[in-house]
Parts: sequence; structure tokens; C-alpha cells
Amino acid sequence: MKIQIINGPNLNLLGTREKEIYGDVPFEKYYKLIQEHFKDIQLDYFQSNVEGEIINKLHQVGFEYEGIILNAAGYTHTSVAIADAIKAINTPVVEVHISNVYEREDFRHDSLIAPNCMGSISGFGLDSYRLAIESIRVLK
Ligand code: DQA
Repeated sequence: MKIQIINGPNLNLLGTREKEIYGDVPFEKYYKLIQEHFKDIQLDYFQSNVEGEIINKLHQVGFEYEGIILNAAGYTHTSVAIADAIKAINTPVVEVHISNVYEREDFRHDSLIAPNCMGSISGFGLDSYRLAIESIRVLK
């Protein structure tokens, strides 16, 4: 089984960025741990701060992989183009957020991508990614 993780803008700064919200673990470190945990799954990781690159990655894997875990970060709340890309592909996408977006500012309560995703996981810290992978594995 192949699952693609896609992280959007500013998530390259995890570990140093707003640690009180996002924690102090760099994503690369967490990625190694989940690769160990899910030995039976090919887990690929891509991060970009550029909207079009995220869309290109969705197109690239979205007809081949069994699942996509997408933390679109700030684009979650603004990007019609990413929402359209999710609708255009065949692979199911799980929306992920590290923080609980519903206990934060009002503008974070709206997700343009959520209606096109299989489901959303928010607020479990980096463990949100593990839960998302489990949700794809259970369905397949
Ligand atoms: C985030 C929540 C978004 O509102 C924010 O813009 C992010 C990260 C999260 O993982 O909690 O950059 O997606």
C-alpha cells in the first residue's frame, strides 16, 4: 500500500514554529518514527510552501496511491484550487491538522477542502498523521 503525506506552507518550520501550538518535533523526525511504525506501508513525504506544487503532487499521486494525507495548512481556509484538485483525482484524501482548528480563530473553522476529503482529523498533535494513516488502512 502506498500513502502520500503532503504538508503545506510553513510546516517545514515544525519544531521551531509556534512551539506552544505545534510542538517541538521537526516533521522529518516524526516521519522516521511513523515509517518504522507502518513498516508494511510505503509512506512518501512531500512539503511545499507553493500552492501549485501541492496541486501538482496531488495530480501526480492521485491516480496511483491508495491514500493521501493532506495538511494544507493555511491553504485549507483559502484554496479553491486545492479543493478542486482533490475532487479531480481518484485517491481518497484525509485532511489533517496538528492543532485543534476549532478552538482557534474563527477563520480557521472553515475548510474549503473538507467537503472533498474522506474525513478530517484535527487536534491530536503530530499523532493526527498516524490516525489518518490508520483510517486509510482500515478502509482498504
Ligand atoms: C494547521 C492549522 C492551520 O490553520 C494553520 O494555518 C497551519 C497548520 C495545523 O496543522 O494545525 O499552518 O493546518
